[in-house]
Formats: sequence, structure tokens, C-alpha cells
Amino acid sequence: MSTFSEFPETSGAPGSGGRADAAAAETAPVTETAPVTETAPVTETAPVTETAPVTETAPAADAAADAPNLDFAGTTPYEDYVQADVLTHLQHLRSDDPGEMVFLVTTQVMELWFTVIVHEWETASRALREDRTQVAVDALKRSVRELEALNHSWRPLAQLTPGQFNAYRGALGEGSGFQSAMYRRMEFLLGEKSASMLVPHRGAPRVHAELEKALHEPSLYDEVLAFLARRGLPVPAAALGRDHALRYEPSPEVEAVWASLYAAPAEHEELVRLGEALSDVAELVWRWRNDHLVATRRAMGAKTGTGGSAGVAWLEKRAQKNVFPELWTARSHV
Ligand code: HEM
Repeated sequence: MSTFSEFPETSGAPGSGGRADAAAAETAPVTETAPVTETAPVTETAPVTETAPVTETAPAADAAADAPNLDFAGTTPYEDYVQADVLTHLQHLRSDDPGEMVFLVTTQVMELWFTVIVHEWETASRALREDRTQVAVDALKRSVRELEALNHSWRPLAQLTPGQFNAYRGALGEGSGFQSAMYRRMEFLLGEKSASMLVPHRGAPRVHAELEKALHEPSLYDEVLAFLARRGLPVPAAALGRDHALRYEPSPEVEAVWASLYAAPAEHEELVRLGEALSDVAELVWRWRNDHLVATRRAMGAKTGTGGSAGVAWLEKRAQKNVFPELWTARSHV
């Protein structure tokens, strides 16, 4: 099944030959009725009349100095890098409902954003460990823009009616975003560790191994606290020596550290900048959870989730949690 099968091949849609086809179409549009002459570039995919002989190679006359290359020995360099052909053939629909496509693709797009964001937060964690603050803040700031893009991807699913969702819901079986390993990697990096979240992935060795490694590694927040301690701030030993595989529990001493930094921003410019980048991340994660909650409430009311939870009631509890808790509570003491 092809993702973009409804579009003409010359539209520049990924997987259809991309920019070169589009450029060829601009210089000499080939329609079903147009006679094909030697000067008209014809690609493998252009519609062709029976009488017109067509070769796969582009005629030299079209090789204008400012035109993109058309001839490649194998797959295009674009394809070799982007793997658009792979990406646009991963949409295996399970129902005949036309609305299922955007549900599946939105979920896949979100998985890709989770992957990018995990990459940024791992970069930031490593940079903090090495005391390279600017590299860490840059990665965090990139992740803020990516979280914004992630959150905007709710739009196509934000107003589903129960009827629209029901049209393909049965096809999902017991599949649920709850089983997203990359989302768990994000949560683990935020300090929300839970060994039980590995259980659904026992049957997928690579995924399980990656998640298990992430469970035992210090989270982004653990690295932030260790970094603050190296800067001479009184982060308690219990927070520094904690078991990284356990959920981070907020501490009054850490709250006091953040409050002291925010109370004297001129003295601690760099650390307050770090605190604000982390607050942006926390706010946008909270927004993702709430957008998900509202979309779910619209699409299925109080029904049980496909993953077996109580649905909205369960998501409500999850959405109440604050990421990087002391960064929020400290504000009451500044
Ligand atoms: C309108 C469409 C959607 C509905 C109705 C919906 C519904 C639900 C429900 C009821 C749960 C709770 C677990 C369960 O029993 O299944 C859940 C969890 C989850 N969903 Fe969705 N979902 C939707 C779209 C998405 C999309 C597009 C994603 C993107 C990957 C996603 C990611 C998640 C994640 C990560 C969880 C686990 C949350 C947590 O552990 O706190 N959901 N969803």
C-alpha cells in the first residue's frame, strides 16, 4: 500500500523521485495527452501514450546548467540518505476507514519526535557530565522547539468524535501508546523511572536492552543535580548517591538550591538559564500529556483504553505529575 498513491508521481512526494521529478515537470510538463518529443524529459513514472517511445535516460538537451541532476546509477542520493521509500511504506493499515491513515502517521511522526528528543536529552546529559554547559543548554533549547513541533502534531487528532475513532479503534486490538518504548526513554530521562515499564518489552530483546540500560543510567535531572553540586551548591548527598533505577523523589534541600539560584539571577546567570531551559521542557511535556488527555476524552469519553487501563481517569493521574518538581515548587520561595 503506498502512502501517497493518490498524488501524481510528479508532485515531488517523497518516494516518487523527489526534487528531480518535480524540476523536470516544471520545465516540460508531460500529460497523458501531450505528445512526447525528444526534448521533453520523461521519467519512468510519467504517464506515457502508447505511440511515444520513451527511454529511461534524460536527453542531453535538457541538461541546462542550472537544472538539478536527473541521472543516477542507482537509487537517488536523497533516497540513500533519507530512506523515504522505507519511511513511506511503513503504513500498514488495518481497516478500510479513510481516517485510520492520519491516526497511524501521527503516531509514527510522534515516535520520530520522541527519538529526536531522547537524542537531545542524552546529548545534554553527557555535556553536563563533562561540564560543557553551553552544549547542554543548546541541546535543551533544540529539544524545546522539537517539543513544540511534537505538540503541534496533535492537531489532526485533537477533535476526533467517538464515531470517527470507533471506525478503526477495533483494528488497534490491544495496541496502545502505553507500549511506546521511546516514550518511556523520554520519561526515564526526565527522572520518571519504573522497572515495571520494561515488562511489556520482554519479547523484543533490542528494545528491552535499550530500555534497561536507560533505567539504570542517571537521568538528565540526576546529571543536572550532580553538575550543581560540582558548582558548589548544597545538593544533598541522598540526591547525588540515589539508586538511578528508582523514580526521582523531590527533596526540600534541592528545592532550596533552586530557590537560592532564582533569588539571585545576576550572580547565577548561567544556572538560571539552565533552570529556565529545563522549565520549558517540563512545561511542554506537561502540555503534551494534557493535549493527549483532552484528545482522548473527546474521542472515547470514559471508556476503557485499548491498553487495558481505565482510560481518561488513568491519564488524568499521569498528567498531574510535574516534571523536575523542585523547579516548580521553588518558585513559591523566591
Ligand atoms: C485520539 C487518539 C488517542 C487516544 C483515544 C488515546 C488513548 C490512550 C489511552 C486510553 C491511554 C491509556 C492506556 C490504555 O489503556 O491504552 C493512552 C496512553 C498513551 N498514549 Fe494514547 N491515545 C491516542 C493517541 C495517541 C498518540 C497519537 C500517541 C503518540 C505516540 C499516544 C501515545 C500514548 C502514550 C505514550 C501513552 C502512555 C502514557 C503514560 O504512560 O502516561 N496516544 N492513550
